[in-house]
Amino acid sequence: MQQDFNQQDVNAMTVSERADALEERMLHELEHIVTKSVLFNLADGKVETESGAALMAKNPGKYMLMGADPRLPKMPAKPTLLDYFRCRFASTSHLLQSATHALKAGHSEKVILACLLHDIGVVSFIRCDHGYWGAQLIEPYVDEEVSWAVKTHQALRFFPDESVGYKYPEMYLKLFGADYRPEPYIVAEYERARNHTWYMTSRLITLNDIYSFDPNAKVNLDDFVDIIGRNFRQPAEGLGLDSSPSAHMWRTMMWPTRYL
Ligand SMILES: [Fe+2]
Ligand SMILES: [Fe+2]
Repeated sequence: MQQDFNQQDVNAMTVSERADALEERMLHELEHIVTKSVLFNLADGKVETESGAALMAKNPGKYMLMGADPRLPKMPAKPTLLDYFRCRFASTSHLLQSATHALKAGHSEKVILACLLHDIGVVSFIRCDHGYWGAQLIEPYVDEEVSWAVKTHQALRFFPDESVGYKYPEMYLKLFGADYRPEPYIVAEYERARNHTWYMTSRLITLNDIYSFDPNAKVNLDDFVDIIGRNFRQPAEGLGLDSSPSAHMWRTMMWPTRYL
């Protein structure tokens, strides 16, 4: 019998229930061969991957995992953006704080949604070029202005705009050092964005971006359910199970250890 559980369930469990769940989980880990993609190994500084034949030889009688990873929170049959927020995004506080800031400042729903989604690349997928990854993830489901703004915030955040009170973030001096300069493709992206009709939408992401993270801030995903409902075109088949140009990216988040 397959038993999956999510973090909320884990929190509510007693010690013995937790031990049972852990045992169950280990059983499933043993049922199938769970592999790491090359990218996961690259992040450990290794350019390598284990061949299927070697894995089969090491795990006689077992098949490769070709579905959900039982160690991760279970996704519903037809997942929505909110399910990814709850089951796959490693942290949502920064996104919710930024969107709350935009909501309180009275910005449009497009801007609020852009703030809510601006860093989903980081919290769900990968840090490098997070603006571009985040924009591609949402492009088929949101107004073009929203995905454009998410893409370009990656460049804009490095460039001050005194006219709206945006300064180079202090946090970046701490994170990257005073000598850091963005790569030429980022400078070029900034220059294109600077003259674009939607420049201010992307600039508002950087203005509402919270560069100092407040661990005590009170934020709630429920505050944004209606805005998401009105501005994010949820596919009927489930996000990732549709045929959009980025559906495979959502599926990869859902099944990150599927063998192929
Ligand atoms: Fe960002
Ligand atoms: Fe951010």
